[in-house]
Order: sequence, then C-alpha cells, then structure tokens
Amino acid sequence: MKKITLIKGDGIGPEITDAVVKIIDAAGVKIDWDVQTAGADVIETEGSPLPDRVIESVKRNKIALKSPVTTPIGKGFRSVNVQLRKELDLYANLRPCYNLPNVKTRYDGVNIVVVRENTEDLYAGIERQVDENTAESIKIITRSASTRIAEFAFDYAVKNNRKEVCVVTKANICKLSDGLFLECAREVSKKYPQIKFREILVDNCCMQLVQNPNQFDVLLLPNLYGDIVSDLCAGLIGGLGIAQGANIGKDYAVFEPVHGSAPDIAGQDKANPTAMLMSAIEMLNYIGETEAASRIKKALFETLEAGVKTIDIGGKSTCSEFTNAIIARL
Ligand code: NAI
Repeated sequence: MKKITLIKGDGIGPEITDAVVKIIDAAGVKIDWDVQTAGADVIETEGSPLPDRVIESVKRNKIALKSPVTTPIGKGFRSVNVQLRKELDLYANLRPCYNLPNVKTRYDGVNIVVVRENTEDLYAGIERQVDENTAESIKIITRSASTRIAEFAFDYAVKNNRKEVCVVTKANICKLSDGLFLECAREVSKKYPQIKFREILVDNCCMQLVQNPNQFDVLLLPNLYGDIVSDLCAGLIGGLGIAQGANIGKDYAVFEPVHGSAPDIAGQDKANPTAMLMSAIEMLNYIGETEAASRIKKALFETLEAGVKTIDIGGKSTCSEFTNAIIARL
C-alpha cells in the first residue's frame, strides 16, 4: 500500500481534506495516510509551526497531499508553506487552470498553466527594519533557480503538447533581478525550438489576462508575480474553490490547492473541496493511479454537470452534500 503524507492544515483545511480522503477511499485507492499536523496549533506543544517530523515524513514518503495553513499577516511566524517548499526544494509550483463543466465564468476555453518559481524572489524572507519609518525586503533571483524553472516550464510544454511559453517579468524596472530571470528564460528557450517563446511585462499580462485569456498557454513567472497571477487565473475559471496546484522538486512533490485557509467560511461546511480534489487527482496521476484519477475526475465533472455545486460557484450544496454526490457517482 502506498504511504503518502497528509497535512490537514487549518481553517477549511480539515473539512476539505476529509472530503477528499473519503472520495479517494470510495474510488478504491488504497493509501496509507501518514497524517501530520502543522501551523499555529502545534507551536505551543512543539515549539515550531513546521516541526521536523513533517519534513521527515515527506522525505520518507516522497509525496504529500496538503491543505492550507494560515500565516499570520504582518507579524508572527514565517509561512509554513514557504518554509516547506524551501526545505524540500520544491522549486516548481505548477498551477493548471482550465474551465470546469457547468461553472459559469466570463470566458470559455481558458486553458492556462502557471509555472511559478517557488524558492526565492521576495519570498526568501530577507527583511529588516532599517529605522522606525523604513523597512526593506530583499528580492533574490539566481541564475541556477531561474534556469531550472525555465527548463521545467519548457519540458512541461513539450510533454503536454503545449505550443507556447510566455515569460512574465518586470524587467524594465527590476533590470537586474527580473532581467536575470528573463535572460535565463531566453537562454533556455533556444533549446526548445518547437515551443514558441514570448515575453511580456507583468502589468500588461494582467490586463491581457482579464481581456483575452485565451491567448495564453504556459506562463513562466518568478515567485511573487506567480503567486498573484495564479489567483487572477483562478478568478478566470470560477474562483479559488476550484484552482488546483502542485509543488514539485527533484525528489519530492507536495500537491495542494492554490487557495488559503479561508477563515471567513471555516467550520461552516461551506468550503468547496474541488481545488483540493483536483490537486489530489494530479497526485494520483503522479503516482501512477491514472485509472482511479480519471474515474474520480469523471464523477466530479458529472456532479457539477448535474448542478450539484457549492455556494462559491453559484450552487446551494454544502461541502458534505457535494462530497457525497461525487461518491454516489463513483
Ligand atoms: P484564501 O484563499 O484563504 O481566501 C480568499 C477568499 O476565497 C475567501 O473569501 C475564501 O472564503 C474564498 N475561498 C478560498 N478557498 C475556498 C474554497 N475552497 N471554497 C470556497 N471559498 C474559498 O485567502 P486569504 O483569505 O487571503 O488567506 C487566508 C489565510 O490562508 C492566510 O493566513 C494566508 O496566509 C493563508 N494562505 C495559505 C496558503 C497555503 O497554505 N498554501 C495559500 C494562500 C494563503
């Protein structure tokens, strides 16, 4: 039986995790879940929001399914998510974004894959208070990290029959840091003549995404722009409740939705488990459970087509009702 680390997170995390585990179980996939807690709740007992046991568990099992963990805003501990990605060197954040059946959106046919560098940029957490009225954050961009994420994006494009990789930067302003990211992408693109290469500035990219998203295929971005643009792309397909994600490195992979812990709806059985489920489906594909992955996806799509939907995407169902409706179709 395959052993996989399961990080339940907090906020809506436990609700959507339970839903997804139930669905995977109903599909007959045998997984021995190595359940790990992280976040604010474990600080008191273990002294850290990300105890070593969590990292060790992912290192042992190689694969994890993770739901969101709250990060205090403007103070408190460093993001567990950022730390986990850094410690496990999960350098590629992969966020495929496409329309789901019967989810009303402004545009049809959106099919964008966001490839976000996951280990550096302003997320390196190098900040200091210069004086009472000045704070400073350092943006780190390295040649090695930029080259490997560009290679990841182009390899992904080749393997998944994509036509174009578009690199997104603000290299007109951040001439050195974003300039280096862009230079690396240009260099890597030369090795992939079969894939079209395009460059765009992030502000224009956002405007173009809102006006005509179907012009984009694979987007390649440094960490911060990738974080923001992938939420924008989630908005294009119906919101954060359905946007899937994966963090992939050389040795390990952690699958998790794009969204956060949604404290505004936590504990109310209102959360949409689709983003977590779509992430889990990709995880099943990744471990070779492709038949079960497509059965679950079919059951999910049929449920949506039947009009059984959670509130965030215009339905009336609770998280439990939606989950049971998927299970009934399996
Ligand atoms: P959020 O993604 O948690 O919520 C934004 C909005 O989307 C809220 O209105 C929420 O109700 C809605 N939403 C999100 N997921 C949903 C779902 N599955 N179903 C229905 N509605 C959903 O973003 P926010 O509020 O900015 O962040 C809350 C916390 O989550 C913060 O502490 C943040 O640091 C953390 N966070 C954690 C992430 C992770 O663990 N990977 C990623 C992003 C944020």
